[in-house]
Amino acid sequence: MELQALKSTLDEIRARFDKDVERFSNLETGQTATMDAVLCMELIALAATAVTPRAASVLDIGCGAGNYTLKILDRISPLDCTLLDLSRPMLDRAVQRIRPRTTGRITPIQSDMLSADFGVENFDIVLATSTLHHLRDDLEWDTLFRKVHAALRPGGSFWIFDLIIHEVALDALMRERYGRYLAGLKGGGPEGDAYRNHVFAYIEQEDSPRPLLWQIGRMQAAGFKNPEILHKNACFAAFGAVK
Ligand SMILES: C[S@@+](CC[C@H](N)C(=O)[O-])C[C@H]1O[C@@H](n2cnc3c(N)ncnc32)[C@H](O)[C@@H]1O
Repeated sequence: MELQALKSTLDEIRARFDKDVERFSNLETGQTATMDAVLCMELIALAATAVTPRAASVLDIGCGAGNYTLKILDRISPLDCTLLDLSRPMLDRAVQRIRPRTTGRITPIQSDMLSADFGVENFDIVLATSTLHHLRDDLEWDTLFRKVHAALRPGGSFWIFDLIIHEVALDALMRERYGRYLAGLKGGGPEGDAYRNHVFAYIEQEDSPRPLLWQIGRMQAAGFKNPEILHKNACFAAFGAVK
């Protein structure tokens, strides 16, 4: 059976995130189910604004409640902010949080990232955090990377923070480390085990992550230059590249 048929549909993913806005609305903690969430928000905001210091516009793909765009606005404002997400409640929260922080245009788009038209040379910075793992086959990843490359202005940069997988032997090791981190969030014991199992179950159902270097290779194939890994810890990495 194809991967697509086994994993959650877009409607199922949207329905889950519609109910989860609070968890993505905290800049102090970031999304705690990911490792080094706060560090990676900081590193991506620093890197994006260092690489593209005269940015005037940002596209945040799978923006959730807008944490990453808010971190960029700490360093460069005003910015035109295009916020794209499947979930209307996420977009509403993102707009509510971002509006007081920029005099630029805010454009919320409720859409699947693959169906949306990003246009050509419209953006200086593109962000995609904890969201590309919803892409399925190679064609979907290649399509997304090509669309982002086309949408960036020359000198613009693309930044990703996401769940990743590893080649077979290392994958179990890295998952085990991630599992220990998740259980530790609930103080270990039965509650920790239950939380780890809960997160692993929705990852299995919903996500199709790819290895870090595979993604960087596909980004380069789409035309990106100067890829940089900002951080990697077990099953999570922050990285980016330039047009
Ligand atoms: C784990 S949250 C991350 C939110 C935000 N980027 C952050 O790092 O805090 C993933 C977001 O991606 C959105 N999403 C999932 N699949 C998507 C798709 N195919 N197109 C657009 N958005 C999608 C979800 O609705 C959700 O808001």
